[in-house]
Amino acid sequence: MEQLNNLNSINDFNEAKQVIVGGVNSPVRAFKSVGGTPPFIREGRGAYLVDEDGNRYIDFVQSWGPLIFGHCDKEIEESVIQTLQKGLSFGAPTTLETALAKAVISMYEGIDKIRFVSSGTEATMSAIRLARAYTGREDIIKFEGCYHGHSDSLLVQAGSGLATFGNPSSPGVPKDFSKHTLVARYNDIQSVKDCIQKSTGVGAIIIEPIAGNMGLVPAKKEFLAELRELCTKHNIVLILDEVMSGFRASSSGSYGIYGIKGDLVTFGKVIGGGMPVGAFGGSEEIMNLLSPNGAVYQAGTLSGNPVAMSAGLASLYKIKQNPKLYEKLERLALKLTEGLKKICEEFKIPLQTCVRGSMFGFFFNENEVKNFEDALKSDTKMFARFHQGMLNKGVYFACSQFETGFICDCMDEAMIDSVLERACEVLREISTYGE
Ligand SMILES: Cc1ncc(COP(=O)(O)O)c(C=O)c1O
Repeated sequence: MEQLNNLNSINDFNEAKQVIVGGVNSPVRAFKSVGGTPPFIREGRGAYLVDEDGNRYIDFVQSWGPLIFGHCDKEIEESVIQTLQKGLSFGAPTTLETALAKAVISMYEGIDKIRFVSSGTEATMSAIRLARAYTGREDIIKFEGCYHGHSDSLLVQAGSGLATFGNPSSPGVPKDFSKHTLVARYNDIQSVKDCIQKSTGVGAIIIEPIAGNMGLVPAKKEFLAELRELCTKHNIVLILDEVMSGFRASSSGSYGIYGIKGDLVTFGKVIGGGMPVGAFGGSEEIMNLLSPNGAVYQAGTLSGNPVAMSAGLASLYKIKQNPKLYEKLERLALKLTEGLKKICEEFKIPLQTCVRGSMFGFFFNENEVKNFEDALKSDTKMFARFHQGMLNKGVYFACSQFETGFICDCMDEAMIDSVLERACEVLREISTYGE
């Protein structure tokens, strides 16, 4: 296969490894599951990334989701510059926080109040604390293959990163913490009922309604509806983790697709427009337990940071202004995945595909993927070869079979056609020369 000139990235990676663990600040970036050296990125423009060797890539990662308008969007950039010229951080309230809170609440059904934090991890960790306090029960249920950030009690059977590294859970998480986390099977309501029966008291069930961390695996509508019913029946707080799917799957996240409400909802990624932002929200009754109104403590030096708020606000404003946005993004995602499927059929390579709004996934797998166990049966060696081949041809897909891809507004039909031509060349080579 052709090989890019990536000498600068190789040197940069070696230098980074001397001072940063594994050379990266988030494990999946190290390319361990696909091999090779991660390109070190010099800049991004629209749909493209440029690395330190000057190679240009069509970027289907978009910073793992946040950049729905691509890199260096003019309006987001201007909003950020205007804000940062007045100061980077105050640790005091600003009207930007209220404006972003109003924007999220107006676009997402069923949230009265919100709190901003600086990451998705903080959002889910805080939502769990709040749910436990509200119900007075300590156990939580999560699903195999769903990832909710790296807080201790949620780092059990947690999808992409851990699947990539082959660990069911992380060392360093005390058994006493993980014993309160029961793990159910995605899209399997009986397994949830079994967990509830086993537990002495379940306070919260947390789920990615459109799972993006075992590859893209959406919940079946009946499953989510039954889960909602079960939570209502047992007074369990249902936490919809929309850190990835919020404002990505539709302008109102999974709610726009399923019409099912959580008691608490967590956000991140798009609501920060590329800056570090997370949030959790819910009914007034639950949210009012949070300090300073209630006793549940949660805080952050940089929470509600003005620069981050203005990036998020500009993104949501642009989404509101463009009612046809998700239609366009979904059309491009379907063109890509259906095109890949057709090419794979030609070369007799089994492929499963899935699209929800601007999110897409593909598994080199014979069968439909409904849960983590199914996802793990995918051909990860094939994925690695495909990934490497596409990278060499200037296409930057997420570097693991168990991640989701993202379309941004700077992409168009011609760009997808060009990606499909390159995919055809790569898959032809793979099917001709095999391993
Ligand atoms: C569904 C979901 N929840 C939580 C998180 C954690 O967010 P962060 O990486 O911002 O801490 C992620 C990150 O990818 C996610 O996809």
